Amino acid sequence: MSAVQRTTRASSRHLVLEEFCYQGPVDRIKLADRVYTANAVPSDIMISFHHEMAMIKEFPPRIMFFCQQPPPVGGQTTIISSSVVVEKVEEELPQVLEKMEQDGIIFTLHTKSIYKNSTTSDPLAGTVWQRMLKTTDEVEAKKRALDMLACNNVKFNSDGTACFTFGPMNPIREFNGKRVMFNRVVGYETGERDAFVTFGDGSPVPSNATETIKKIYEENCVDINWQKGDILLVDNLAVQHARRPGKPPRIVLVSLSN
Ligand SMILES: [Fe+2]
Repeated sequence: MSAVQRTTRASSRHLVLEEFCYQGPVDRIKLADRVYTANAVPSDIMISFHHEMAMIKEFPPRIMFFCQQPPPVGGQTTIISSSVVVEKVEEELPQVLEKMEQDGIIFTLHTKSIYKNSTTSDPLAGTVWQRMLKTTDEVEAKKRALDMLACNNVKFNSDGTACFTFGPMNPIREFNGKRVMFNRVVGYETGERDAFVTFGDGSPVPSNATETIKKIYEENCVDINWQKGDILLVDNLAVQHARRPGKPPRIVLVSLSN
């Protein structure tokens, strides 16, 4: 274990944070007790705003990031108050927000059969649903998907892909007296996975509403320009995070906790 890994572990222990084990589709490597690598998707790809593990039934209230190696270009972690997202969407798209709350949304995640650029040696890393559910057996995978994920249905396709359906669900949740946009209401911006969002009645979210929501994110987020040794503690119940495209090398470690 390196000195920085020890530092991250020691920092989370010092704050008396209990470890929260990562579950999900990301190729995270557990480097040490409490210390994981960040999302390994290629650095030139934007990782869209999200609450960590929002698609999993149990999600961590806190995330600690530690910068071991700042990227030479880009690669900022960017954060946004999720309650501000709700306020701005309510201001600019009141009918859309009302429909999202009343009818809910349906989020469909279409995993790919091959996860290119995987950096782990894990034999399950070449696919996504198998890694996410830690099995290659479809029957067991479906059981785990319904048990572990906040998922309502899963369909395995003959080409090795799978479709996970979440919802209809209200994307807005309330934590500590604040309404937050807990689930994604726009699709992914990456090629890692495809996601589609409709209202709960199956009707599409108008594209101009999706564009307005993306603009709200861009206008209200704050970029963190990493410097070596920086620590960022994020309240995952209040704040969403994303990663901007950049150039490698970039090493940001993660510790999830209660
Ligand atoms: Fe994340």
